Amino acid sequence: MTQAVRKILVTSGLLYANGPIHLGHLVETIQTDIWVRFQRLRGHNCYYVCGDDTHGTPVMLRAVQEGVSPEALIQRVQAEHQADFHSFHIQFDNYHSTHSEENRELTQDIYRRLKAAGLIEVRTIEQYFDPQKEMFLSDRFIRGECPRCHAADQYGDACEVCGATYDPTDLINPVSTLSGDTPILKESEHHFFRLGEAEDYLRKRMQQKTRLGDTVLQSDSINKLEEWFEAGLRDWDISRDAPYFGFEIPDAPGKYLYVWFDAPIGYMASFKNLCERKGLDFNAFWKPDSDAELHHFIGKDILYFHALFWPAVLHFADYRTPDRLHVHGFLTVDGQKMSKSRGTYITASSFAEHLSPEYLRYYYAAKLNDRTEDIDLNLDDFIARVNSNLIGKYINIASRSAGFISKKFEGRLAKEFDAEGQTLVTTLQQAADDIAELYETRRYSEAVRKIMALADQANEYINATKPWELAKDPQQTYRLQQLCTSNINLFRLLTIYLKPILPQLAQRVETFLNIEPLEWSHSQQVLTGCQINPYEHLATRIDPKQVKAMTDANAANTPTQQATTQDKNIDPVADTIGIDDFSKIDLRIARIIKAEHVEGADKLLQLTLDIGNGTRNVFAGIKQAYRPEQLEGKLTVMVANLAPRKMRFGVSEGMVLAAGPGGEELWILAPDEGAQPGMRVK
Ligand code: MSP
Ligand code: ZN
Repeated sequence: MTQAVRKILVTSGLLYANGPIHLGHLVETIQTDIWVRFQRLRGHNCYYVCGDDTHGTPVMLRAVQEGVSPEALIQRVQAEHQADFHSFHIQFDNYHSTHSEENRELTQDIYRRLKAAGLIEVRTIEQYFDPQKEMFLSDRFIRGECPRCHAADQYGDACEVCGATYDPTDLINPVSTLSGDTPILKESEHHFFRLGEAEDYLRKRMQQKTRLGDTVLQSDSINKLEEWFEAGLRDWDISRDAPYFGFEIPDAPGKYLYVWFDAPIGYMASFKNLCERKGLDFNAFWKPDSDAELHHFIGKDILYFHALFWPAVLHFADYRTPDRLHVHGFLTVDGQKMSKSRGTYITASSFAEHLSPEYLRYYYAAKLNDRTEDIDLNLDDFIARVNSNLIGKYINIASRSAGFISKKFEGRLAKEFDAEGQTLVTTLQQAADDIAELYETRRYSEAVRKIMALADQANEYINATKPWELAKDPQQTYRLQQLCTSNINLFRLLTIYLKPILPQLAQRVETFLNIEPLEWSHSQQVLTGCQINPYEHLATRIDPKQVKAMTDANAANTPTQQATTQDKNIDPVADTIGIDDFSKIDLRIARIIKAEHVEGADKLLQLTLDIGNGTRNVFAGIKQAYRPEQLEGKLTVMVANLAPRKMRFGVSEGMVLAAGPGGEELWILAPDEGAQPGMRVK
């Protein structure tokens, strides 16, 4: 049973400093925190560091919008993030910021080391520039007509209608979304990290087993890497021109390091800050000969950075590399992407206002595994699992036995179990190693299933022995005390196994049982002959009304949030036209008689429209905003005389009118009541 004490450093992805924590982020931090707490319960030296990812254009622009300095903005956001994580019992050893002195020093030093190793190349490139804002524009700040399907208003890197990918210079009539002006092409020097140089190293590393006896990545992520190797590793542009909120590149005035260059170094900076405060040895964790483990928990969307750039940067800058990347999928709510309009874009703070954060921890644990598949928060299932498993099975064991101990035995447990009780206690004790292995390998859902199966056994035993009957028979007093004592012990063992998931509940149990904080090894001991405290209610069931109130509150929040962000992003009004120009466009009322998914299309729905004198087939890029069943039967407005367009999935015979920035935030037009299919809009 004895295992050497491991030195472990754990991180989860640094949070962008431009928005609140939501339930998606919590899939990651809760999962990490469970793992970290488990390691600590096992007696290992496990440090958990995280922080905010503060640099880059979005933070800079948002600060301008709010009329504050970026420093003030990120400080406020960091305080909010920390408060949210605290309420979900995320136990960081340090929560830091990428905008810190530690990070500046480390980042600039690593840049210099990479340069000395010949891995940085400086090249001049041509890029769009907004002459009014005097800024180079990244792809997301340029929109224009798709060069392939001619859909209007597409991003600088990809068309949401036909799925084409291209360079921003391929867009027809490009417009800067920052000013509405036409961007101009301008030359600038950029610094590139030559990732290709690291290919051999990275390929080898992917196959190798680390000291933990396994590869760094789980197999589904290795497959992803293989695809990227096949496609070829491109040099990585790590510089940005002023104005930029970030760190300056050493010896290159006016040039800044791209946010993704300094972000993962933020892990080191956060740990360095901890070392300085706690007198720990930074090098013992970060030098190539370190005997400490390094684990990163990340979402699948940031795998490229963590599996390719990051180890390459570390390796060539003479630091150790991660032992394990724990990659998870994305959160869906009720089977769909989180949506502001449906009220399922749930912030951490609003969840905590309506429901116990530990219930979310329990639900996520009950669903998480070691693969990268997405995880669904089904709100009905959430209520059912918490109520019937956590409360109905686990808590129930204590509530059915504790009362007798305080009422009949003045809080004293029996000195020993009876034979049957002993057998069951032993069964639960023997599960400790298996459950530990499931936590260790991030198979939490299996761990929870196993623990609940043990709770089932305990409940069956209680049902069979009926303590409430024994309590009526004075002859059976000692047997009752023995039974309740073994039941309390079963409950105590289950509490140890659930403690990584439910730290606060476990603390209440410790108070109730009058014991020291439980550790994993305590599972091999029992609690007999001692005094426990009177049973107080440990947890309550979820009332479905609480969940409803939460989604209502989140849906109600949406319009104001959108109004404030959109006011600032109103497209400029186009050039004046005459009525003749307008009347060239034949707009008709149309009824959506059928709406269907299109196989292989991420953005499109196929609509069949009734326009009075026949039907039209239209592909509309509104899949993220509407489910087909929400549309069928609705009236809308279509452009009826648009030239038919051949698309990858068929011919589109017109276009429905919609407003909004795109993605989920798109609203189709609807006429007032009384309008009939076929009527012309004038
Ligand atoms: N700042 C970068 C990470 C830099 S790490 C050096 C970032 N920030 S984030 O705030 O967008 O996301 C933080 C973490 O939360 C990422 O690992 C991301 O994958 C995860 N998630 C963000 N939204 C998520 C869901 N909806 N579902 C599950 N995880 C999600 O990325
Ligand atoms: Zn297109």
